Amino acid sequence: MAAKRTPFVAGNWKMHRTVAEALELVGALRDRIGSMEGVRVAVAPPFTAIHPVAQALRGSRIEVAGQNVHWEKQGAFTGEISCGMLVEAGATCVIVGHSERRQYFGETDETVNRRARAALEAGLTPIVCVGETLEEREANRTLEVVGRQVRGALAGLSAGDLAKVVIAYEPVWAIGTGRTATAAQAQEVHGAIRALLRELGGEVADRMPIQYGGSVKPENAAELMAQPDVDGALVGGASLQADSFGAIVKAALQ
Ligand code: PGA
Repeated sequence: MAAKRTPFVAGNWKMHRTVAEALELVGALRDRIGSMEGVRVAVAPPFTAIHPVAQALRGSRIEVAGQNVHWEKQGAFTGEISCGMLVEAGATCVIVGHSERRQYFGETDETVNRRARAALEAGLTPIVCVGETLEEREANRTLEVVGRQVRGALAGLSAGDLAKVVIAYEPVWAIGTGRTATAAQAQEVHGAIRALLRELGGEVADRMPIQYGGSVKPENAAELMAQPDVDGALVGGASLQADSFGAIVKAALQ
């Protein structure tokens, strides 16, 4: 029997919100969902807003995540941020391997794996994103592509480390397009990911949250998260407004 998993809803702000705007948004989120129990919640602001946002959320249950991180601890890596820097700024989680990083910034399964390992070593929860393109789906390659991404991202991790990983299944064709996977499409892939996690880590697979991402909105969140292997959401556009993100977080409790 599947263990009961705490749902996890994270908001990926992408390249949106100045510090002033970020503080306004988390102020409103704190009021709405800051003390809600039974669901894990995180927001991922741009790097410049992580520290002030973490300060503003102190004492609430809302966590802060980075949108990316480098695997080295320090060095001549212009434009990069280390895990230690994220931790110091107040982050507890980090998104790795988002499809926009894969598409526009040359992220590979191997670099996703390095980032995930570094995050785990630093005590950050890695939110590992996987997902197929429309072309891959239409060629019936979804499970093959997602399987390769999951195996690649998690290569070499112990069962103990796997237990701390969060997977986000985000079909690329559903991101920012308004076109959501149906609940059945999401469940099919989530179920396949769960089976693969079981192969890789045994029973810890039952404790690992698998978020769905791609045009999640208050209107579709409850149905998606009602699927047996959909344990929360990674929300882009709808995480930029307190009303819609708050409603999605509440839907996770149903
Ligand atoms: P979206 O983005 O909700 O705007 O589709 C999701 C994501 O990229 O994480």
